[in-house]
Amino acid sequence: MTIHTAQMTNVKKNMRLPKTGTIEIAPSILSADFARLADEIAAIESAGVNMVHLDVMDGHFVPNITIGPPVIAKLRACTDLLFDSHLMISEPAKYAQRFVEAGANHITFHIEVAPEPIKLIDRLHKLGVTAGICLNPETPVETIETVAPLCDMVLVMTVHPGFGGQKFMPEAAKKIIRVREIVGPEIRIEVDGGIDPQTTPIVVSYGADTLVAGHAIFAHSDRHAAVNAIRQACRRKTEDGGQKTDNRNSDF
Ligand code: DX5
Ligand code: ZN
Repeated sequence: MTIHTAQMTNVKKNMRLPKTGTIEIAPSILSADFARLADEIAAIESAGVNMVHLDVMDGHFVPNITIGPPVIAKLRACTDLLFDSHLMISEPAKYAQRFVEAGANHITFHIEVAPEPIKLIDRLHKLGVTAGICLNPETPVETIETVAPLCDMVLVMTVHPGFGGQKFMPEAAKKIIRVREIVGPEIRIEVDGGIDPQTTPIVVSYGADTLVAGHAIFAHSDRHAAVNAIRQACRRKTEDGGQKTDNRNSDF
């Protein structure tokens, strides 16, 4: 499929997922004030994060509906943060290109709705973005065993997808250990659902290096302090010799 050059103007090709070796915090705007998204993103950008997690829901794969390409395209003009797009939609292959054209830099799709995951990963790479595969809490790790090493990031859900502010599922988080064995040290593992300063040391000790947090950041009146609280929680693990926390622009 050819891509019309004019449609691709929103793509910021220099924005790539950071190499492994740092812990990244990816605030999810699902819990932000949707009437003030540009300001909400500016607040987390000033807290020094490198990426923002965009939850896309279609009311079919999950029982909720959120944002799509037109909103992402408008947000693209407001920030240089990496757009980490989590597609919770039934037909990711059908819509992937539209998200790239809107300005997504990384696209994660769910294995449960991808009959040809390798083909889709390859297509995303050809479109100039990085690719991620996601596992629901009840989906066995074996389903991604062959495709995970082809991805740039694997996303492990620790809640049932669809809503922010749910309770962390400890058993689902344990899958991170097996995913890390499969992908080795060079591929990011993102974790999504119920991540806060209490659950952060658990998932980091399992091998996660990219932490999605919605409620823990946007339900907090001081977004910057909320990001820093998660950074500090990472250190509870990293002081034991683990991964480095990316704390550029942090207050401490
Ligand atoms: C849930 C979404 C998450 C959500 C996480 O389906 O994929 O990204 O925003 O929210 P918290 O951090 O509040 O659990
Ligand atoms: Zn998400």
